Amino acid sequence: MAQEIFDKVNHLLVEIKTASPKSLEEIEAFRIKYLGSKNILKSLFGEIRNIANDRKKEFGQLVNSVKQTAEAKFQSLQEQLEDTQENTELHSLDLTASAEPLEIGTRHPVSIIMNKIVETCSRIGFTVAEGREIEDDWHNFTALNTPEDHPARDMQDTYYLLNDPEHLLRTHTSSVQVRTMMQQKPPIRSIFPGRVYRNETISARAHCQFHQVEGLYIDENVSFADLKQTIEYFAKEIFGHQTKIRLRPSFFPFTEPSAEIDISCFICEGEGCNVCKYTTWVEIGGCGMVDPAVLDNCGIDSQKYTGFAFGMGVERIAMLKYRINDIRLLFENDIRFLKQFTAAF
Ligand code: DAH
Repeated sequence: MAQEIFDKVNHLLVEIKTASPKSLEEIEAFRIKYLGSKNILKSLFGEIRNIANDRKKEFGQLVNSVKQTAEAKFQSLQEQLEDTQENTELHSLDLTASAEPLEIGTRHPVSIIMNKIVETCSRIGFTVAEGREIEDDWHNFTALNTPEDHPARDMQDTYYLLNDPEHLLRTHTSSVQVRTMMQQKPPIRSIFPGRVYRNETISARAHCQFHQVEGLYIDENVSFADLKQTIEYFAKEIFGHQTKIRLRPSFFPFTEPSAEIDISCFICEGEGCNVCKYTTWVEIGGCGMVDPAVLDNCGIDSQKYTGFAFGMGVERIAMLKYRINDIRLLFENDIRFLKQFTAAF
């Protein structure tokens, strides 16, 4: 009798080891049979009273090992099932299917114009340099003949660093002229594109941040005629070959003489329109001969060298070129708006 029970248990052990349930339902049936609350092993434990005392311990150990085998088997069955599920998911993926096309961005109109300006100026020998957006008072103002209390500072109020009021967000790229002259010996022929800041109330025509491109040419015998020729070439390249330029006398502290750069209105071509306010000219920047005091401030001998400089607003050029009537559109980064200008140059 006792041996019969032992045989039964051993038989069960083999049954458990060789069982191969596969589906979720089969595995669950396995669990209920061997590990559930009314499992078959419990009834075997009940048989212990029919076992002779000297074999009771042996029997108990055997039943326990069957229980452990069932538990281990159940766990590995579950793991196998998870693996096959993952595999099936993987196989149902078509790896050869072409990927969803990623929507890529677009070149910003300000970058398009900047690139065009850099390319145009490079063709006549201008190299490109960049300064810093957080500038000190001396490079932004004082070295450029605009000492403290100079009225020209009023036009260029900006943001000062709270813990260091000697530093400010540069108001123009002219500060890069100073940095370049301090570092290099003439001849210098460079342009400086970059972002600048002003304390302005934001409106359709003004923003507290915008971009400029500055130009600087210093050598022996550089004259106003060289400046005029360079501006004319530039205007024709950017706005078209029919474009005329007009240099209108003006004032900047760091150039003498100074002029505003106007181009003939390419929208109405002399008819008069609301872009040129019926003057047939539109302003794109300022220019002039570098003031000898600025050359001296920057360590360049003003007796030996002369030079010209110019500065232009990139947003202004982009707005004219693409007929954009609100500068804020250029800072909103709405791709539907920006996409319209990709093919324009
Ligand atoms: N820095 C001037 C401004 O932001 C623009 C300018 C005028 C730059 C004349 C120049 C220049 O280099 O010669 O208003």
